[in-house]
Amino acid sequence: MRPSFWVTCIICSPFAAAMDIVNIYAPAHLPEGASKPVEHSFASFSFPVHFFADYAGNKSHPNRFSQDIVNLFYEKTGSWPNIRVGGTSGDRAIYNASQTQSIILSEELDNGIPLEVYLGPTWFEGFETFPTPWTFGVNLANNKSNALENAIAEAEVALKHIKGNLLAFEIGNEPDLYPGSVRPLNYTEADYVREWKYFADAISRRVMKGNKYGLDWWKIYQALTFVFGWSVAEAFWKDGIDNTGHVKSVSQHQYAAGNAEWVRLGKSFMNHTLIAANLTQYVPAMEALRAYDPNIPFLLGETNSDYVNLNMAQVEGVFGSSLWLVDDLLYGMTLDITRFNLIQGTTFGYTAWVPVEYNGQDPKVKPPLYGQLVAADVIGRHPTVQVKSLGLGRDDLSAYAVYESGMLAKYVVVNLDEWNSTTTYPRPSQKVSLGVPEDVRSAEDKRLTGPGASADTGISWGGLSWNYTDGRLAQSGEETSDMLRVSNGRLDLELPSTEAVVVELHRN
Ligand SMILES: *[C@@H]1O[C@H](CO)[C@@H](O)[C@H](O)[C@H]1NC(C)=O
Ligand SMILES: *[C@@H]1O[C@H](CO)[C@@H](O)[C@H](O)[C@H]1NC(C)=O
Ligand SMILES: *[C@@H]1O[C@H](CO)[C@@H](O)[C@H](O)[C@H]1NC(C)=O
Ligand SMILES: *[C@@H]1O[C@H](CO)[C@@H](O)[C@H](O)[C@H]1NC(C)=O
Ligand SMILES: *[C@@H]1O[C@H](CO)[C@@H](O)[C@H](O)[C@H]1NC(C)=O
Ligand SMILES: *[C@@H]1O[C@H](CO)[C@@H](O)[C@H](O)[C@H]1NC(C)=O
Ligand SMILES: *[C@@H]1O[C@H](CO)[C@@H](O)[C@H](O)[C@H]1NC(C)=O
Ligand SMILES: *[C@@H]1O[C@H](CO)[C@@H](O)[C@H](O)[C@H]1NC(C)=O
Repeated sequence: MRPSFWVTCIICSPFAAAMDIVNIYAPAHLPEGASKPVEHSFASFSFPVHFFADYAGNKSHPNRFSQDIVNLFYEKTGSWPNIRVGGTSGDRAIYNASQTQSIILSEELDNGIPLEVYLGPTWFEGFETFPTPWTFGVNLANNKSNALENAIAEAEVALKHIKGNLLAFEIGNEPDLYPGSVRPLNYTEADYVREWKYFADAISRRVMKGNKYGLDWWKIYQALTFVFGWSVAEAFWKDGIDNTGHVKSVSQHQYAAGNAEWVRLGKSFMNHTLIAANLTQYVPAMEALRAYDPNIPFLLGETNSDYVNLNMAQVEGVFGSSLWLVDDLLYGMTLDITRFNLIQGTTFGYTAWVPVEYNGQDPKVKPPLYGQLVAADVIGRHPTVQVKSLGLGRDDLSAYAVYESGMLAKYVVVNLDEWNSTTTYPRPSQKVSLGVPEDVRSAEDKRLTGPGASADTGISWGGLSWNYTDGRLAQSGEETSDMLRVSNGRLDLELPSTEAVVVELHRN
């Protein structure tokens, strides 16, 4: 019987801990250590070259479902998400101007990525299907004698379609993985920097110079794209990657985990301590860049939960991963990472949506989309949004304060305690008490809810759900938010395990 079970258990852990009230307090005015203003396009996208046509379509057949999703982000933040197209398959791409097919991929795969990739001119029409800023990666991995000519041809045709929306070119992808694969084992970071600068010079002079879109023809490159090995500081201070002034931004790639035995929702992904550690590892690189003049933005240009794309959907594509993503994005904002380009893929477990029919199933929305939508709503349309992490010292609970023009405007609290519909005890709930400034009269409470960490359906954000219907993104449900009453300068609420809440403060 449930009530007696409950009564028995409130005196034993983990319930005893869960019954305690957690007091959370953020100053009314922007405190020391809050982030810089967060870019409205903070929660952006990255598409691998081999899946780009699935996500974007072409000029005559744009992917309307993807367009609707990108538009939804625009509606929420007033800014287009940025899209980076590249990755390992981009670093295998050969452009063929006389190829009539949009893209030809080899059957042979490595971690779901084709070993050979041929692009025809129509593939580049995909860039005309969203009005977003674009970053496009040309092939540097190619070790044949025509490598530079291929990269120039790719940049040329990309610019023709991207036009004034070009944010940056990348040259190569994860070059710290080149030694022993596409370059000799003794290939170094200094070798990469030398090649990179040679390609950047050539693309600037032969493709960008005199462009009719008013784009900076020289400082137009996103550099590094390291995934694990090499040093950002060394690339700048020792190897001089920017001593010719080509670097507009620096990107690193971040994946929290692989497919080891230990990769589980509760102990790994849904763990704030680990989420924070995964992101604070970039602080030294960002400090090195801050010391560099001119200051160069640092972003995660290809990131998601797990570098193993396949057969991990039970961890990557479920509601628990939406909560992982909320915490990952919010914590990233607090560290002043400029942007997260979340990588998507038709077959990838962590993808936010499947853009085309796959495995005999219709296109669909997957749970991670919700995490990204929550982050977009936390940013919203206010011009100056800054975020601070309210360190609770808990693995299973995190909290953030959101400031608008320097005034406390929102709290975000994420309960990462893993609970499933199959869990053998009732869903625990964390009592939380939020301190609010004197002039706050009431507050609105919006929830990210799902039936449990392992669920991949039945998810809603503020009462709304989204999914694919007849070629488009359809919204269902009814917008819901609870009004909270301020009592003695506090707002009290309960947050069930595996749920997040955004509390918006109202001053009148
Ligand atoms: C555009 O995409 C549609 C649908 O995939 C395809 O039938 C058509 O051939 C493509 N057009 C071009 C010019 O490649
Ligand atoms: C380029 O495409 C054309 C037309 O399909 C084909 O005949 C030619 O062999 C391709 N070239 C290369 C280098 O693959
Ligand atoms: C050149 O790249 C190919 C893969 O495209 C690789 O098999 C080969 O070993 C590379 N050569 C060198 C010298 O690194
Ligand atoms: C790196 O290795 C290649 C052979 O794989 C050799 O030709 C070259 O001299 C080596 N470079 C250095 C700097 O040792
Ligand atoms: C979260 O990760 C930390 C660091 O590895 C670990 O000590 C802790 O036990 C984990 N928490 C949970 C709830 O699994
Ligand atoms: C990143 O998170 C994973 C768990 O998802 C953990 O195993 C790994 O140690 C973390 N890495 C760092 C650098 O903190
Ligand atoms: C949740 O469900 C998953 C998959 O069924 C299982 O591996 C995990 O142990 C469950 N967690 C809890 C807390 O019940
Ligand atoms: C979207 O719909 C598909 C097919 O009906 C379903 O499998 C999927 O779970 C739904 N997505 C979400 C997030 O509910």
